[in-house]
Amino acid sequence: MKTGQCEKLVKKDQQYLTEAARAPYYPLGVRTAKGSIVTDLDGNDFIDLLGSAAVMNVGHNHPRVVRAIKQQAEVLIQYTTAYMYHEPLGDFAEVITQLTPIAGDKKVIFGFSGSDATDGAIKLVRSYTRREKIIAFEGSYHGTTYGALTLTGIGDGMKKNIGPMLPGVHHFEYPNCYRCPYGDHPDTCSLPCLRAMEEALKTWLDPQTVAGVFLEPIEGDAGILKPPKKWMRRLEELLRPHGIVLVVDEVQTGLGRTGKWFGSDHFEVQPDLFIYGKSLGAGMPLSAVVGRREIFEGLRTLGHAFTNGSNPVVMAAAMENIAVIKEENLVERSRIQGEYFKKELLKLKNDFEFIGDVRGDGLSIGVDLVMDRETRTPNGTAAKKIAYRAWEKQLILTFFAGNVLRIQPPLNIERSLVDQALSIMEKTFREFSRDEIPDEVLKISKGW
Ligand SMILES: Cc1ncc(COP(=O)(O)O)c(C=O)c1O
Repeated sequence: MKTGQCEKLVKKDQQYLTEAARAPYYPLGVRTAKGSIVTDLDGNDFIDLLGSAAVMNVGHNHPRVVRAIKQQAEVLIQYTTAYMYHEPLGDFAEVITQLTPIAGDKKVIFGFSGSDATDGAIKLVRSYTRREKIIAFEGSYHGTTYGALTLTGIGDGMKKNIGPMLPGVHHFEYPNCYRCPYGDHPDTCSLPCLRAMEEALKTWLDPQTVAGVFLEPIEGDAGILKPPKKWMRRLEELLRPHGIVLVVDEVQTGLGRTGKWFGSDHFEVQPDLFIYGKSLGAGMPLSAVVGRREIFEGLRTLGHAFTNGSNPVVMAAAMENIAVIKEENLVERSRIQGEYFKKELLKLKNDFEFIGDVRGDGLSIGVDLVMDRETRTPNGTAAKKIAYRAWEKQLILTFFAGNVLRIQPPLNIERSLVDQALSIMEKTFREFSRDEIPDEVLKISKGW
């Protein structure tokens, strides 16, 4: 594999760009991308199991999305909707509110990223309830603007030296059934992971002061952690009677990623607010908060407005994105492809002791690498070496939570590419098990 141009780019990048904006895995400079194939500056093709971090649900540069962007750019690139109106905004506002599974009248507010949408949702729940406190969870990732970063319950030092964070935010335990600290099994446990919250609500955290609870229905960056259904049910029972707004962060789980339209569809739960980002604009910067109309009534004029927000070109891409997901049956395809991928990975688990767990729904799968299956100690070295060697074999494979391989390709990835990806993974696993991947790669592969 040639790497000269990519290496040159990385050098330039290191000179001008800050580490705070990335956690690199390997020196891949992307020049073009189509469907599930990415081509680098040196002309090498890669199968993309990352999908630009669960963004490209419809695949890279889907022709319908490209056409919509071009057509809209020809007629209007931007006019600020802080003061005026345009059709692409009105049209997409209708589509995304109708798609969101909340009964009755709904409203939407748009932004650019999952982070700013999370901040918007914090403003909404506070202004609606006239309460200040927020409940969030350990292991969650909500983004890096101040509000979102405050809610985030993961990351090594992300909050260091930049405090104070937002006041009034309390983090509680999120279920981690593979590494249950209580040694319980989800089928039989009595939800000891909720005890601290139950106790808090009885003692030091007056539920009447809590505006909202924010959660990822399935925690992504924590390594694909899915709570038991009964945990979600009990959480609602605990919070609902006090008028606490239930906010689901669907930035990573939304729009078919987990084999259902929304991550929260895996549970019997009725959220009040949905946060969207990542895949919403098919790669164009777009986020949204959608929820019951009355929740939007407390936030005053320009309380969450952006001059370049609600951009018509972005809206045109988003319209086409939703149409493609529906017309190409991508939610169902995600479920079916995901089942196949998981089944094949479970076969590999039989061969490799360092694979502790394979979990996930649809095309959002985590392969949890361990030192040994007894202690389940995370094996970060394995994740780094395997990701790096996979890149050398022209597969974009990354990890999160330090040791969980991340499989989130476009939802329309071809079966033949899935098979090729699996074959590369198998070869890579074998080389790792024979200690054939040098320690030097640990200096390059940082990841997160
Ligand atoms: C669940 C979740 N919420 C929010 C965010 C933040 O989104 P963004 O990076 O677009 O600000 C992310 C990004 O990874 C995410 O995975």
